Amino acid sequence: MTTPRAGSVALITGGTGGFGRALATKLRALEVTAVLADLDSERNRAVAADLGCPFVALDVTDRAANEAVVASVEAEHGRLDAAYLNAGISSAKSDDAVDLDEFLRVVDIDLFGVVYGTLAARPAIKRAGGGAIVVTASLAGLSPMAGDPAYSVAKGGAVAFVRSMAPRLAAEGTTISAICPGFADTAIIDPIRDTFTQAGFPVLTAEEVADAMLLAWTSAEPGAAYVIQPGVGTVPYKFKGVPSAKTSAGETAVVPEALRPPSMR
Ligand SMILES: NC(=O)c1ccc[n+]([C@@H]2O[C@H](COP(=O)([O-])OP(=O)(O)OC[C@H]3O[C@@H](n4cnc5c(N)ncnc54)[C@H](O)[C@@H]3O)[C@@H](O)[C@H]2O)c1
Repeated sequence: MTTPRAGSVALITGGTGGFGRALATKLRALEVTAVLADLDSERNRAVAADLGCPFVALDVTDRAANEAVVASVEAEHGRLDAAYLNAGISSAKSDDAVDLDEFLRVVDIDLFGVVYGTLAARPAIKRAGGGAIVVTASLAGLSPMAGDPAYSVAKGGAVAFVRSMAPRLAAEGTTISAICPGFADTAIIDPIRDTFTQAGFPVLTAEEVADAMLLAWTSAEPGAAYVIQPGVGTVPYKFKGVPSAKTSAGETAVVPEALRPPSMR
């Protein structure tokens, strides 16, 4: 499958933002129902209506609300094939001090929003016969940003979550993967766009990122993280791995089977 099947149903959190809108436009063209979940506002409802997409109000930090939204998608549209866990913010403050309240807020949205969304979508996607969960992480999750520790922690955590959840989800027919874009031209870079422009620093378009999001639904390897960079395209990140423990005989020690999830034993 190189494109999602017509008639399938996707949920996009942060759906009325830059990546969400670009992805929704592409999904609609493929006759996929894209349900846009975002913070409740007149603006966000109007954006969804303009795109011809259903809107559901969701604050991704609300655990129960994630479950309610998935239930409403199944009730309204009959199924859920793909969940794009894409809502996110970066820290607004960029001085040397670290504002702990802001730090926790960024991690709550960018990391725990992904955890809650995954756990809520998992049973519904399984009921649909399997599908995909695509997490919008960031290059900052692979290469931490000195300017934004909270964002780096949250996105790095999201990548680790995707990698650790992948085997048990794969066992039930669901592929979870992460996309890790470099800087892209959406509202999130509003405060720093001029700096990029003046420096001649290239940024991605939202459409380039949406193409990678589409590909991740149909073709991702479970647990993979895809880097998207201007002039580079979309490439799987090669994790280096860590040295394994050695037995007293100098052989590679295998982690005991009982420590793996049941689906991997
Ligand atoms: N644009 C970039 O340079 C870039 C690069 C790498 C990763 N990302 C990530 O891509 C994702 C999408 O961002 P974007 O670039 O489209 O920016 P954006 O600001 O246009 O979109 C983010 C969306 O998330 C929504 N959101 C924020 N908090 C939320 C909450 N608590 N509950 C539900 N929705 C919430 C916002 O309302 C907004 O619609 C984010 O996770 C962001 O961190 C962006």
